[in-house]
Order: sequence, then structure tokens, then C-alpha cells
Amino acid sequence: MKLQLFNKQVYVDRRAALKQAIGQDGLILLLGNEDSSMNYKDNCYPFRQDSSFLYYFGLDVPMLAAIIDADSGEEVIFGDELSMDDIIWTGTLPSVKEMASLVGITETRAYLQVVHYIHKAITSGRTVHILPPYRPENKIKLATWLNVSLDDVADHVSIKLIKAVIAQRVIKTPLEIEQMQNAVSISVDMQLAVIKHTRPGRKEYELVAKAEEAAMAANARLGYPAIITTHGQTLHTHYHGNTLQEGRMVLSDIGAENAMHYGGDLTRTFPVGRSFTTRQKELYEVVLNAMDHAICMLKPGVRYKDIHLAACQKLVEGLKQVNLMKGNAAEAVAEGAHTMFFQCGLGHMLGMDTHDMEDLGEPYVGYTDTLKKETVFGLKSLRLGRGLEAGFVLTVEPGIYIIPELIDRWAAEKKCADFINYDVLNTYRDFGGIRIEDNFLITERGSHLLGKYLPKSLMEIEGLKE
Ligand code: GLY
Ligand code: MN
Ligand code: MN
Repeated sequence: MKLQLFNKQVYVDRRAALKQAIGQDGLILLLGNEDSSMNYKDNCYPFRQDSSFLYYFGLDVPMLAAIIDADSGEEVIFGDELSMDDIIWTGTLPSVKEMASLVGITETRAYLQVVHYIHKAITSGRTVHILPPYRPENKIKLATWLNVSLDDVADHVSIKLIKAVIAQRVIKTPLEIEQMQNAVSISVDMQLAVIKHTRPGRKEYELVAKAEEAAMAANARLGYPAIITTHGQTLHTHYHGNTLQEGRMVLSDIGAENAMHYGGDLTRTFPVGRSFTTRQKELYEVVLNAMDHAICMLKPGVRYKDIHLAACQKLVEGLKQVNLMKGNAAEAVAEGAHTMFFQCGLGHMLGMDTHDMEDLGEPYVGYTDTLKKETVFGLKSLRLGRGLEAGFVLTVEPGIYIIPELIDRWAAEKKCADFINYDVLNTYRDFGGIRIEDNFLITERGSHLLGKYLPKSLMEIEGLKE
């Protein structure tokens, strides 16, 4: 097995910057992931390394841990050598020492030696900085090693480390942008394969197969489970058993994770047959206008929450044109009336994780000490609100989702009846949903679309179906 890595200096520099940010203040402990069993011990899900471990230590191998001593500067990787059984069943790997040297580290120890380092630090009153674990096995390890209950692990998470890691990972370097360009371009190829394979009578899962094929042919895989559905109103459905019917649309939300684990996250909505219906065209234009408006606002200093709210207002203005909404658009947004159609947020950070660094906590990734996430329906699902900075990579993904159950609930409550034409809306009950999603790098002056261009206008999309 050949390990895929950046040049070792990349990792040396990243760790030096982290040490600098933490200052002489204890021990930084970063856990890699281990294999996760699917249905019995030796039948595992594809391995996915922890993204922060990858960022600082690069090694895409299970069962590693590492410490960075912020006081002494010492860096150690902990891991066990393969047994003969491992070699027989799963093949060879470089030794732990050889792997460590690839990322500029000379000190290695057996995996469980990490416990001694932690206990020594604790008994001498030093801080052990940890990130919030999202895998149960890492949570159990941390509870055991820190000698606290599972519930209390959260109290030992280091906000200082979280903030330092986010501050670094959130600004993508040219090397990372290159990887993201690659991942998004593969995602474009996946979308094109899906769109071209779409026709009445086929099954949604046949489209998922095309997406997987295009990803795998590019030495990539899906960064998140495919959302390929004729029921686009369900934001994150993973059911793929429906038959494609003339007159309906497919919403395809898919993204590649490339060999270096950087990802794309693209959505297109297109007709099952050759062309959109009039109603589909009308609402597609409404979403596209909101998207274009949002894209024009992308630049450093602008809060993403304000871009979200501006996009919501554009959606309302468009929905008024087709008589689904009424009244003053700004007031409608202030009342939350648009959330009948757009229940989620405009976008999120993107990187090695589809929702980049969400494991570290949305309050720190998408918000700040002074800008907190709101709890009302709609804004509670806006993962990114903070002011933009050059180097951020994010998604812009407005949509219109017609959810019959939500119509019934709100209509019964006469909710936002001054802004929503329920009579008209009821004639759209089986419309489905539309989302359009692209990925952008924030630059000094504005933004830059990542990846190859993927058609998105009505004419371009219909053109792909000829
Ligand atoms: N694919 C998940 C998302 O768009 O957020
Ligand atoms: Mn998506
Ligand atoms: Mn997304």
C-alpha cells in the first residue's frame, strides 16, 4: 500500500503553527480513527481517517494517535507494528517509524504508551488538550485514559485547541485549493454521468451507481451518502428505490472525496424527461436568481448570515411572481414565512469534511463569540453565519422544497397567512424540491467557483438531455 501524502514540510509547518497558537500550555492529544465494523468484527466500513489527524499528521492508517507537547515541542506518534496475521490478511505497511518520518516525526512509541504521556502530564498538573470525539471508540478511550465518565469527556474538551485548529483549517492554502479543485471537478463528472443516464423508467439507484462509478474511476469515493431522488423536498433522503417518471425532476446532491480526502458538494435538479414543465421552470428560475444574488455578495467582510437572508428575500420576491407568496418580501423574511419553502441554510464550510469541521462544533466553525447561531426554524439550520474571509471554501445552495406535511401543519395554524397563498400552494403539493449547489473559494476581492463548470441554467440543463 502506498501512502498518499503532501510533502513532509507541509505537516511540519502545520504543527509548528498549531504549537504557536496554543503557546507553552500543556499537551495536545490528537486521535486517529480505527476501523469500524459493519456487521461483524472483520467486516469493516471503508476506513476514514479523522480529518484533523490527517491535517497535522497525514497518515491515512487506522489505530494511530499523536501528541504534540506544546511546552517542550516534542512530537510523538503512537502505533503498533503489524502482526504476521495482519500482513497475511491485509498486507504490509511501512513501519510506524518509517511512516512517522514521512511527516517529519522521529519519535514513535507503541500505541498504548500514549496513556503514560497523558498520566504524566495530568499528575504534573499540565493541561491535556483534546478535540471532541465523534466516534464511540475514541470517546471510550478518552474516558478511560483521562479516568472520567463517558458523559464527562465533553467537559475535558479544549476550546482553545478547537479554536486553534479551526483557525488554521478554515483558511485553505493553495495546495489545498488544488485538491479541492480536483475533488469538485470529479464531482462535476459524477453529476454529468447521473444527468446523462436519467430517463423515464430507470430507478434512482441506477443513477447512484453512475455517480459511484464516476467517483471510483477517478480514484475517489463519495464524501457523503448520495442524495439522488425524485422527492427532492426531503432534504437528506437516502432512499433510492423510486422509478423515474416523466414529468418529475431528479434532485442530485453528490460529491467526491478525492484520494487526499478533500471533497466537493454539488447539487443539480433536472427533469426526468427532456424538458422541465412550466411550473418547474418558474421555480427553478426563482432558485437560480437567489443563488446568483448570493454569489454576487460573496466577499471578505460580509456575514454569510446576511447573504442567507438576502437570498431568502430573493426567493420570496420570486415566489410572489408565481403567486405562491404575497406581501412585503423583507417583512415575510423577518416573520420566517419563507421557511415554508426554504427550511434550511444557504450553505456551509467545505474542506476535508463535507460540512467542514462540524465535529469541532458549529458555534466555532460557522459562528463567533459575538455572532451566535439563532434557534428559530430556518436559521437554526444555517451552519455558517460569520463574516467571510479570503481562503474560506463554502457552498451556496438555495432551494425550494414543497413539503405537504408542513403545508398542512402551517395551514391549520394559519401561520404566516399574510404572506403565503395556501390555496395556490396546495396545487403544488406533489411538486418535490429544487436545490442548486456550487462550491466557492473566497478571494481577496470576491469569490471563485471551484472545479470545472457544471451547467446550471435551464437551457444548459435541458441541453445536456438531448
Ligand atoms: N450534501 C449535504 C449538503 O449539501 O449539505
Ligand atoms: Mn450537497
Ligand atoms: Mn452542501
